[in-house]
Amino acid sequence: MGARHGAAQETRVDESTRHTPHEGHSVEAGLYREAMSRLAAAVHVVTTRGAEGRAGFTATAVASVSDSPPTLLVCLNRRIQSAPAFRQAGLFAVNMLSAEQEAVAQSFGGRGGLSGEQRFGVGSWHEGELGLPCLAGALAVFECRLIEARHVATHDVLVGRVEAVTLGPAHPSLVYLGRDFRRV
Ligand SMILES: Cc1cc2nc3c(=O)[nH]c(=O)nc-3n(C[C@H](O)[C@H](O)[C@H](O)COP(=O)(O)O)c2cc1C
Repeated sequence: MGARHGAAQETRVDESTRHTPHEGHSVEAGLYREAMSRLAAAVHVVTTRGAEGRAGFTATAVASVSDSPPTLLVCLNRRIQSAPAFRQAGLFAVNMLSAEQEAVAQSFGGRGGLSGEQRFGVGSWHEGELGLPCLAGALAVFECRLIEARHVATHDVLVGRVEAVTLGPAHPSLVYLGRDFRRV
């Protein structure tokens, strides 16, 4: 039987597994990160082309907002070196990675110490319809116009209107779960 969410069910929650903050205190960041590590999330590389050339970063914080008109959002840490380029360019592409593209995710996650243009040495990149860096073999690529950017805590929530979609091969997907890459 599926989980019930009524008040009666609430009282049966095991208190030893419950981490409720005291009134006026926020949840500790490490606990929040541990909980979020249990969320299976598709891996993307978000790219742009600015005055200083191409830039991109690996992202799991990507979500669909609406299909009418097609709209999505990406959460971008403002400490990322290329963060200003995304606001300035006003355009970005979301490349949804296939299971074979873990090396691309590593490169754009900053793990090899690569930055800016150097990251595009991993994977095969071409210009999309809006002139944005698009990854060959990605499951799908969404080229977006930035319609809203909102500061929320450490991140900018970038809302993009999707102006072009490229469908790639229907291969297995690259997912991040338990602080590790997995193939689904
Ligand atoms: C699997 C994975 C998912 C990530 N998801 C995000 C994300 O959603 N948003 C974000 O701002 N950074 C995310 N990052 C971190 C950025 O990719 C990383 O901080 C960035 O590439 C660093 O760039 P810099 O060296 O130019 O500052 C993620 C990294 C990995 C490996």
